[in-house]
Amino acid sequence: IPVDPFDLVIFGGTGDLARRKILPGLYLRFLSGQMTADSRIIGAARADLTEEAFRQSVRESIAEFVPKPKQDEAVISAFLGQIGYVTIDAKGEGGWPALKAMMRPGMVRAFYFSVAPALFGDIAERLHLHGVADGESRIVVEKPFGRDLASARALNEVLAQHFKESQIYRIDHYLGKETVQNLMAVRFANILFEPIWKAEYIDHVQITVAETVDVAGRGAYYDKSGAMRDMVQNHMMQLLCLIAMEPPYHFDPNAVRDEKLKVIRALDAVKPEDIVRGQYRATIDKGGDSYAVHSENPETRTESYIALKVNISNWRWKGTPFYLRTGKKLRARSSEIAITFREPPHSIFDDHTGWRENVLVIRLQPNEGMEMMVMIKEPGPGGMRLTQVPLDMSFADALGSEANDVPDAYERLIMDVIRGNQTLFMRGDEVEAAWAWADPIIQGWEARGDRPQLYDAGSSGPEDALMLMHRDGRRWRDIR
Ligand code: BG6
Repeated sequence: IPVDPFDLVIFGGTGDLARRKILPGLYLRFLSGQMTADSRIIGAARADLTEEAFRQSVRESIAEFVPKPKQDEAVISAFLGQIGYVTIDAKGEGGWPALKAMMRPGMVRAFYFSVAPALFGDIAERLHLHGVADGESRIVVEKPFGRDLASARALNEVLAQHFKESQIYRIDHYLGKETVQNLMAVRFANILFEPIWKAEYIDHVQITVAETVDVAGRGAYYDKSGAMRDMVQNHMMQLLCLIAMEPPYHFDPNAVRDEKLKVIRALDAVKPEDIVRGQYRATIDKGGDSYAVHSENPETRTESYIALKVNISNWRWKGTPFYLRTGKKLRARSSEIAITFREPPHSIFDDHTGWRENVLVIRLQPNEGMEMMVMIKEPGPGGMRLTQVPLDMSFADALGSEANDVPDAYERLIMDVIRGNQTLFMRGDEVEAAWAWADPIIQGWEARGDRPQLYDAGSSGPEDALMLMHRDGRRWRDIR
């Protein structure tokens, strides 16, 4: 379904995110017909480029980041015809009148802040000063949304001076992932799961986001951030919220976000012994660089891996720990949520040896899908012996080509901005609550001077992370 025609201005239009995700994503929405020929995209950046030169750079990013079969010359030319450019000075007045002149009345107006957060305030202010934005305009802001509670608050305050909360779209691209949204469909469109979705029946939850990439090229940002700020405070927190939240009364932006906020507020402080931080090192056989090579500080204590045990103190979850882990340079790229159920209260079978817990695995990437581990009778005449099998459903198998055609997270989220749907965006109070939880954890290890444990590149992470679960009589699922 086509969205309403829009004028979308991308500040930082020549930057990395615009090149890799935003512009190729918009091209794909144009190709699908969702973005129509009366919509316009305007790149805005400091570089003194002609419109033609900017279009050429968009053409190159499509060539590099859009799958070959989807590169259609006629469509690309038409798409480039919708693109404009303006040289703009975020901290000065240059370019703003020109930008204002490009805005068309009656169009949905959106401004994508794909720039360093330090510029958010300057841009927001000038959008108003020069009458470029109006009371209906939307702004999209990227992470990192602050690096602690104080800086996130300051950002919220500066944006609030010029925009209402209903105009602000804070991106967490994990919320745009197909399976992440499926999590809500699975929980709230089936009667099967919700009655047992609680501590009484669930032993523990594991959330894993394992990456194989290193931090090359973004060491300067990453080293000031680390896995906790880069992944846990935002992406993993969102996953945790979607698993743990109460059913919202309606699939509506504030109803969903109210429920997520309640979860964040119910999180216990994390004890130092429930946190394992790691940093990868090069190994002789795997080659590559150690993490520290990408840092300006050879003694860097930034973590490229973190595992932690999180408890939620509310009626539903008291007694069911959530174990979270994420890291760079691990054995495989694999993100999943695994819900492990408890043992049945009583076994009627004499031979219980084959028994294993039921596990519901929701695979986010790659191979999106769900798997439910269930007990059955071992086939054959050997009597009533138990064995576990997966009830497996790969979305690609079940849905055929439709599953392969799902838009990337950015594509979907940008279209949601145009549609004016904030459900998959973070509200200001949610971001602040997540920082309020993360801050003392980070301050704790900084005050103690904790060093991350080294782990081999290409491994499953530091040894101590295994212990985090072993000591509770549990184990991590393999990273495959
Ligand atoms: C980003 C982080 O937000 O998410 C990166 O800054 C990380 O460090 C990336 O690699 C992971 O996203 P995805 O979609 O590849 O899982």
